[in-house]
Amino acid sequence: MAIQKQTKIVHPGGFTGGTVRVPGDKSISHRTALLAGISSGESEIQGFLQAEDCLNTLKAMETFGARSWFDDEGVLTIQGTGGKMIEPAAPLDVGNSGTGMRLLAGLCAGSPIQVTLTGDESLLSRPMRRIKEPLEQMGAKVELTPDGTAPMTIQGGNLKGMEYRLPTASAQVKSCCILAGLYAEGRTTVTEPVPTRDHTERMLRAVGAPIRVEGQRISVEGFGPKGPKFLARPYVVPGDFSSAAYWLAAAAAVPGATVRAEGVGLNLRRTALLDVLRRMGAAVEIERTSAPTDPEVYGNVTVTGADLKGTEVGGEEIPNLIDELPLVAVLGVLARGRTVIRDASELRVKESDRVAVMVENLASLGAKVEERPDGMVIDGRTPVVPTHGIRSYGDHRVAMSMSILSIFASEPVCIGNVACVDTSYPEFWDQLSNLGVNVE
Ligand code: S3P
Repeated sequence: MAIQKQTKIVHPGGFTGGTVRVPGDKSISHRTALLAGISSGESEIQGFLQAEDCLNTLKAMETFGARSWFDDEGVLTIQGTGGKMIEPAAPLDVGNSGTGMRLLAGLCAGSPIQVTLTGDESLLSRPMRRIKEPLEQMGAKVELTPDGTAPMTIQGGNLKGMEYRLPTASAQVKSCCILAGLYAEGRTTVTEPVPTRDHTERMLRAVGAPIRVEGQRISVEGFGPKGPKFLARPYVVPGDFSSAAYWLAAAAAVPGATVRAEGVGLNLRRTALLDVLRRMGAAVEIERTSAPTDPEVYGNVTVTGADLKGTEVGGEEIPNLIDELPLVAVLGVLARGRTVIRDASELRVKESDRVAVMVENLASLGAKVEERPDGMVIDGRTPVVPTHGIRSYGDHRVAMSMSILSIFASEPVCIGNVACVDTSYPEFWDQLSNLGVNVE
């Protein structure tokens, strides 16, 4: 992987729009690494995201006994363990990814092994009691720091199925419980307060797992401590909607500009940004190209820009655009009138406190923005004038969202600490240049 310089300078203007193909979906790539990793035989995966987060999860699965390799075309083969998990000799560093850590924790809890999961500074500050509680209810032992953060040591095995009501809307916690449930005796049922992304459920159905979804109640029948007996199968990972979102949002804010994103995931639990773009005035066209039998919906999305107006986002919509909220804030600055983001306190426990960090960065580009405990209020159409450089706080989505706002600035904007972009979208800067923006 190319070594990124720590700082990028984004020059204003130049954005031409065009057609983009984005790398594979991060959430789905993590899940294929896990599921193919515990299956019997060799699974072939097309479109696996070769970015740090997912490669760390793949490496973790190798430590547990799986083998994996990429061919020259980027197709990944994973030879699974058949369900068994080998105890690692040393703590496993999963880098920056909450998804990697929380989903792996679910798998580890199922097997009679002791594992310590650790990560980078950002990951070691994120809340892990949210998985400790349900995993301990099933019978695992989970040790955290007194702050409720990782490093996390799990003593797994002998799990019993449970009924669990998720206190927060989190696909990571839901998936952690479902994966642990596969190794439990009896049935595990989780109920989510609000629907969240359902990639785990879709993938489990595709491998023939005994999973039932009734509204917001998801049940899985456990296979016991030897684990599930899934057979290897091919997977196709669609393009990541959350990566395409940067280009779709940029197009939306330039009247008449068009971006077409091809082969991108269109799971409704991920694409609420498209509803927001429509409400703000942009034109959105969706063309589904996946077959009805494909586990995930994917296709092409075209957004044409307009004179945007502010909007409100909140309630059940939030989990369906959680990773795009920094971009909604950026669009709020560019839109006429007021944009309100509410019910989004979960944003404060992402790779950074995305409420505080986005408010600070937007203000440093002249925006009129007010911080709220669960979001922010932005009065748009202030001139985008850089007073000082952007601080990404090592958060990939902050760095990429602020780069999009920089296209609309009066002068070049310096974005610091951009190496984090490699966790999810290493090709981001090349794509930005391909769409006409001058990046140094
Ligand atoms: C993810 C779920 C979301 C999202 C994250 C990926 C997943 O987190 O923000 O980027 O792959 O399950 P939460 O489920 O904790 O909200």
